[in-house]
Amino acid sequence: MSLDSDKKIRLAIFASGAGSNAENCLRFFHQHPDITIPLIVTNNPQAGVIAIAEKHGVPCRIITNKQWQQPENGLAVLAEFAIDFILLAGYLALVPGELIRKYPHRIFNIHPALLPDFGGKGMYGKNVHQAVFDKGVDETGITVHEVDEVYDEGRILFQISIDITPNDTPESIESRVRELEYAYLPGIVEKLLLNNI
Ligand code: GRF
Repeated sequence: MSLDSDKKIRLAIFASGAGSNAENCLRFFHQHPDITIPLIVTNNPQAGVIAIAEKHGVPCRIITNKQWQQPENGLAVLAEFAIDFILLAGYLALVPGELIRKYPHRIFNIHPALLPDFGGKGMYGKNVHQAVFDKGVDETGITVHEVDEVYDEGRILFQISIDITPNDTPESIESRVRELEYAYLPGIVEKLLLNNI
């Protein structure tokens, strides 16, 4: 049984970069019976995700870090779109405390490594995979976690790992981790929103 169409759970995606995970989620939730993505938010006027939102016919609002200094600006946009949950997918800014308090346990982040290792300030994009490679660890993976006011320290909700092989390079690690993100993130978000995790 699905929810009435006007009762769908409304997820906003926040992204700062290319937005390939955002696009993967837009595809996955297109015509989903219970969940819809009515809004993309970016803090970066140059972000690739803006064109992706346009391609999928989803409104994209640019809210810069400066604008977030008055959190009521961003909160008003989320209220306008009646947003229930937020997914950070490559969103490179600290989420203001006001937003976290407005959406307790309803903001999730995807991190391209196995937290609590390889997280925190500066640990984004290629830096993460380079650090994993340099440390010589034998596995990496992805983490989906709740967002609180400290970078990458919210409650861990889901992890999956892959072995690092002697042939791996930072680039191959990155592309293998991306495959994990594409394969798992939408389904995990679906479960979280439908309260199955
Ligand atoms: C992804 O690797 C995600 O895990 C991380 O930032 C990257 C975003 O890539 N948080 P994209 O913008 O979704 O292509």
